[in-house]
Amino acid sequence: MTVGKAIKHESAIQHVTGSAVYVDDRVKIEGMLTCWPVLAKYARAKVISINTKPALAMDGVLTVITAKDIEGKNNTGAIVSDEVLLAETNISYANQAVAWVVAENEDIARKAARKVELELKELKPILTIKDAIKQKSYHGEPQKMARGKAKQALKNAENTMTNEFEMSGQDHFYLETHASWVIPDNEGNYTVYSSTQHPSETQSTVAHVLGIASNRVVCISPRMGGGFGGKESQANPFAAIAALAASKTGRAARVRLNRELDMKLTGKRHPLLAKYKLGFSNTGKIEALDINLYSDAGWSTDLSHAIMQRSLFHIDNSYFIPNISITGYACKTNKTSQTAFRGFGGPQSIVIIENIIDDIARTLDIAADKIRETNFYKEGQETHYGQVLNDVRLEKVWKLAKANSNFSRRKAAIKKFNAANKYKKRGLAITPLKFGISFTFTILNQAGAFILIYTDASIQLNHGGTEMGQGLHTKMLQVAASSLGVSYERFRLMPTATDKVPNTSATAASSGSDLNGQAVKAACETLKSRLANVAANMLELNAPEDLSFENDFVSAKNNPKNKVSFNDVVARAYFEQVSLSATGYYRTPNIYFDNESGKGVPFYYFSYAAAVSEVEIDAFTGMFKLRQVDIVHDVGKSLNPHIDKGQIEGGFVQGLGWLTMEDFIWADNGHVATFAPSTYKIPTIAEIPEHFEIELLEKSPQAGVIYGSKAIGEPPFMIAISVREALKDAIASFSDKNQTVNLALPATPEATLAAIEKVKAIDEIKTS
Ligand code: MTE
Ligand code: HPA
Ligand code: MOS
Repeated sequence: MTVGKAIKHESAIQHVTGSAVYVDDRVKIEGMLTCWPVLAKYARAKVISINTKPALAMDGVLTVITAKDIEGKNNTGAIVSDEVLLAETNISYANQAVAWVVAENEDIARKAARKVELELKELKPILTIKDAIKQKSYHGEPQKMARGKAKQALKNAENTMTNEFEMSGQDHFYLETHASWVIPDNEGNYTVYSSTQHPSETQSTVAHVLGIASNRVVCISPRMGGGFGGKESQANPFAAIAALAASKTGRAARVRLNRELDMKLTGKRHPLLAKYKLGFSNTGKIEALDINLYSDAGWSTDLSHAIMQRSLFHIDNSYFIPNISITGYACKTNKTSQTAFRGFGGPQSIVIIENIIDDIARTLDIAADKIRETNFYKEGQETHYGQVLNDVRLEKVWKLAKANSNFSRRKAAIKKFNAANKYKKRGLAITPLKFGISFTFTILNQAGAFILIYTDASIQLNHGGTEMGQGLHTKMLQVAASSLGVSYERFRLMPTATDKVPNTSATAASSGSDLNGQAVKAACETLKSRLANVAANMLELNAPEDLSFENDFVSAKNNPKNKVSFNDVVARAYFEQVSLSATGYYRTPNIYFDNESGKGVPFYYFSYAAAVSEVEIDAFTGMFKLRQVDIVHDVGKSLNPHIDKGQIEGGFVQGLGWLTMEDFIWADNGHVATFAPSTYKIPTIAEIPEHFEIELLEKSPQAGVIYGSKAIGEPPFMIAISVREALKDAIASFSDKNQTVNLALPATPEATLAAIEKVKAIDEIKTS
């Protein structure tokens, strides 16, 4: 069986040789035009006038698209219609596009864009979460979840704590920036090539902006050079612009953002502010949490409500909180529209509860890992939203991670090291993860596939998921090859296209292989049942249900020598007038959620993991070295251990970037200040620890999921929190006194130095 084998990513060679073709690398289309935006210079303003004439007068400029050119809807808001595509009256964030120049090439388009005259009246923008709270500037209503009596329990608790925690956002920094090509035919139809995680939504957005039916638009998502959530909703407007250009000129048109534009125009991970009151016992058991979350959602709603909801779902991480009240506000600010990013609101709330746990530990002078254990969910307990937990694998991953990393021995060694070193301190921490798998908006949990067998027995595989580097296509090939019992090499994986599989959900929520895998398998089952009839006739048997498809042969289960080749069966099927193509469909069973009551079973299952990280901080520079990382991850019965380990490494390092390095800054005038890798530092190979060990939990198939596997795309991001906790552990050791550590997120060297100063200051106060 191909499933379960550590075969290489289907595009591995192309990736490492730089020959992989992305949207803008396709063979150029003759006469294709380039679009370039005209950007507003204020974060908030009224539009007084737009004069496109000077640009239009330039040679090589075909047109300048403004709101007036839109025949359909001037709106690309996927869930709430609050996202104008081309600003007409109001500017809501710095660098919002007011017009797009369409020209023969990029050079001309850029020059012409500078010539468009834009008269604006500047208004005072809202640029911080605290300002938004003051002005009650929110998207929609706050969301709430609750269990027990938080207020009452806070009164009765042995210890209480009131605190705030603010964290920064994160740029996706996918290697391939946003890109779209739109090719019109001369009959009113459009082919859209888009770097999108959500081809069906890109298709429908293009259709409604052009004011045409969806059946006139085919959206194709070739492989993406990374999406990470940044292309779940935000590829749509760029495809719509290219489509407007194509429709107005009758020629192919392209939009491709350079890095600077991509960083200035598109949404980030949501920055977030938490304000909370915590109650806990003298043994460190969390008794009550009353918490408000405020995300900086930016100018339009985008996916902010779903993202906030996932924050509400994950504030417990792995811990049973008997009394809890949580409210989430999506703040409306004059910034880019923040969007999906690996973890989808989970990282923001999980880092809060892990920070809280550490505060409890340091307040009580009990080891943080013990406090974590004390609060772990037990089998059969209910989450605050009413989902009963079965098959809880926390203890399993936890114990194994501790054992693999020699946790207690190293803790003692670090204590010695820190006592002997004044300017270098080490820290060690272990953090767990429980992450809910499914789209929390239940109906999105569906997928389709379409498989075509040709008479030479070669096969095309289509499924509704998109490939962004995560290895979904490889896994789907494995599923199809295993289900049909044929060789992997027989297949060609087709680019994701809306005319092959319609009405798909975004490839997101880590559920790509769960959902599409089942759809692929369903299509294979249909084909097998048809081919079995043909094979039974060929083998002169009367029970097609007793045939087995294996190793490119169809044979009798009880007499494997009685067999025919898959190729012969296919050839025969054609002559017997049996259809050789089939669709497959899947929806996740038995999940639901009631927004009114905040209760339900939103997740089909949970993925579990634990990570142990050790750091060494240099007290002169505030810089740290990540000395060692040991991870244990539950991936069920892995579809492909090679790819799953790659996802764990990549997710962890991306989380490390968010937590410790990536300082995304908006200047006081609302402009993005960090729009290049020179000022926005993402992790490189240098930050990867030399000791980076990953163990996949063995013998842990997940019932009801494709071949017993589990989702892996997002969870590893959140175990990088162990690095932040290890940093805090090291920082705490700069003082002899027992105290909580206040470390900013991201924990840049400056922030680390500031945190060290703070713990030392308390030391001085206490000893003087
Ligand atoms: N891995 C790579 N290489 N590139 C990506 O863009 N996106 C992540 C994760 N892993 C991503 C990635 C995110 S945000 C999600 S939701 C999942 O992959 C989506 O794919 P899956 O559902 O097939 O795991
Ligand atoms: N995760 C990721 N993307 C989503 C979700 C989710 O839960 N819901 C809608 N889009
Ligand atoms: Mo991932 S943030 O669900 O695209």
